[in-house]
Amino acid sequence: MRAALLLLLAGIALPVRAQGPVTPPVPETNVLLEGEQRFRPQWSAGGLVAAQEPLASAAGAAILRQGGNAVDGAVASAFALAVTLPQAGNLGGGGFLLLWLPGPTPARQRGCLAGADPELAIGGGMAVAVNFRETAPAAATATMFLGPDGQVDRTRATRSLLSTAVPGSVAGLALAQRCYGRLPLAQVMAPAIRLAAQGFPVSRELSDSLAAAAPRLQADPVSRRLFLPPPVPGTQLRQGELAASLRRIAAEGENGFYRGPVADALVGAMERGGGLITHSDLLAYRARLVRPLRREFRGHPVLTMPPPGGGLTLLQLLGILEPFDLAATGLNAAASLHAMAEAMNLAYRDRNALLGDPDQVPVPVERLLSPAHLEGLRRRIDPLRHTPAPVLEAAAATEGTNTTHLSVADRQGGLAALTTTLNFPYGNGISVPGMGFLLNNEMDDFTALPGSANAFGLRQGAANAIAPGRRPLSSMAPTLVFRPDGRPWIATGSPGGSRIITTILQVLLNRMVHGLNLAGAVAAPRIHSQLWPDRIDGEEGLSPDSRRLLEAMGHTLRRAPAMGAANSVEVLAGGGSLGTVDPRRAEGPAVPE
Ligand code: DON
Repeated sequence: MRAALLLLLAGIALPVRAQGPVTPPVPETNVLLEGEQRFRPQWSAGGLVAAQEPLASAAGAAILRQGGNAVDGAVASAFALAVTLPQAGNLGGGGFLLLWLPGPTPARQRGCLAGADPELAIGGGMAVAVNFRETAPAAATATMFLGPDGQVDRTRATRSLLSTAVPGSVAGLALAQRCYGRLPLAQVMAPAIRLAAQGFPVSRELSDSLAAAAPRLQADPVSRRLFLPPPVPGTQLRQGELAASLRRIAAEGENGFYRGPVADALVGAMERGGGLITHSDLLAYRARLVRPLRREFRGHPVLTMPPPGGGLTLLQLLGILEPFDLAATGLNAAASLHAMAEAMNLAYRDRNALLGDPDQVPVPVERLLSPAHLEGLRRRIDPLRHTPAPVLEAAAATEGTNTTHLSVADRQGGLAALTTTLNFPYGNGISVPGMGFLLNNEMDDFTALPGSANAFGLRQGAANAIAPGRRPLSSMAPTLVFRPDGRPWIATGSPGGSRIITTILQVLLNRMVHGLNLAGAVAAPRIHSQLWPDRIDGEEGLSPDSRRLLEAMGHTLRRAPAMGAANSVEVLAGGGSLGTVDPRRAEGPAVPE
C-alpha cells in the first residue's frame, strides 16, 4: 500500500522531458502593470536603478538624470552604498560588474583595450565584464589558516587581518567609469560624498544590522568608534573620515586609495595587527576587463561572469535544465524542484572540484559548458530518486546581508549588473584607522583545507587553494539576458554566498520559462542545494505536498531563511524600463531616473 502510494506520488512528480526544442513562452511585452500578476515592478519612461538601499538607488538615478549612462549610474550607486549600506557596500572589498552599452564604446580611444579585446559585440552594442575581485597578498600561503592541529582556524580565516585580501572595489569602479562612463568621476561620486559628509537618517535595517554585528565590531577600536552603539533609527549618521577618503578617490581616481594616506593607513594597520597586505600588494592590484561568458538559453543569449565568478555554474545549470519542460511540471512543483536540486548538486560538484582563478589554474571552461558534458550530467539525474551526496553534512551556512547587488538600465537601453562584497556583514569587522571604511574577509572564499567547509558550507578543492596574487573563487555572477534578436533585456544578480548562483537561476527560470513578470520572478519562493550538505534548503512558501513528494524521492528538506536579494531591471522593447528590488532585503523601492 505504502509502496503503491510512493509510486503514485513519484509518478505525479515525474518530470516531463520535452520532445525537441522548447519554444520560449516569454511574452515580449510582459509588462503587466494592470494587476494580472501579484507583484508589480517599478516603471520608468527612461532609466532606473534597483539597489538594496533607496538613497543609493536615488544617487544612481540622479546621475542618470544628469546624462550619465548605466555605468555612471551603477558606479554612483555603488559608492553611495559604501556610505549607506556599510554591511555590504564598501571601499575595502571587491566584486564584479557586467555591462552592455549601445554602439561602439569609447574604451579603445581611452586606452582601455590594449592587448586582447574583452568586448563582446551583441545587439548593436558591446558587453564587457569587470573583474575587481580581491587578490591574496604576496605573502599568503596555502596553509596559512591551519592551526597546530592541522584543522582550519575559523577565527583567523574570518575575523583577523589575515582574512583580508587586497581590496578591488575602488580599482574596479574607477576602471569601469574611466573606460565606459560618460561623466567625470567626481560628478559620479558627488552624491556618495554628500551622503557621507552631510549624513543620512539611519534606517531601521541599518540600526538592527549594526546591533547584530556589534560583538564583531566591538572587538576593533576603530569600528567601535565609527559604528557603536548602533544609532537609533531616524538619527543622522555622518561619516567625515569616509567622506575624506571618497574625496581623495574622486580627485585622484584609484591612486587616491592604492597610494597616499589611505594606503599608508591600511598598510600601517596590517603591520600593527598581523596582516599581510603591503604597499607593493596595493600597487600591484589591477582590476581587469574580461570577456563575459555566453550561452544561449531557449534562444536568449545569456551573458555572465566567468571564473573566478559564479557564472560558469549558472550557465551549466541553465544548460542541464534547458530540455526539461519545467513550464509543464510547474513552478514550485515537486518534479520541477527535484530536477533543479539534482542539477544544482551536479553543477556544484564541478564547481567544488574544478574551479579556481583562471589566471593561475587551468579551468576547463569549454569542456564544462560543452553539450556532451552537460548531457552527461543530465543523464545522471534519476527522475524518481534523489542521488545522495556521500559524505558528512557540513555545518549549516547562515547568511547575512554581506554582499549587495544592484542593476541599472539607462534610457538608451544600456544595462549594468554589479555585485560587490565584504564577504561577511561588515567584513572582518576591522576598519582602517582614520579612513572610515571596513575591510573584507574574502580570504575565507579560498580552500583553507581541501574538503573542509567554508562559511557557506562549500567544500572546495585544490584548484582554489591560497596562492600569492590569486583571486578566490566567488559565487557572485552579475548576469545580462538578451532578446533572441540580440537586443538587451534583463540585468540581474544577487548576494547570498553559495546561494547566489541558484537565486539567479530561479529568477531567470521564473521570468523566461514560467512567464512571471520581473517582480514576481524575483519574489517567488526559492530553493537551494549545493551537493554538501546533502539537502534542499527551501524558503517559506514551498507547499507541504511538494515537500512530501520530494521527501518520498529521497530528499532531505530544511526550511531555510530568505535566500538572496536579486535587485533586477528590464529594458522595455518600446522604450523605458522596469525594475524591482528583492522584497526579502530591500530597504526601499527601485528609483526611476
Ligand atoms: O564571493 C562570494 O561568493 C562570497 N564572498 C559572497 C558572500 C555573500 O554573498 C554573502 N551575502 N549575503
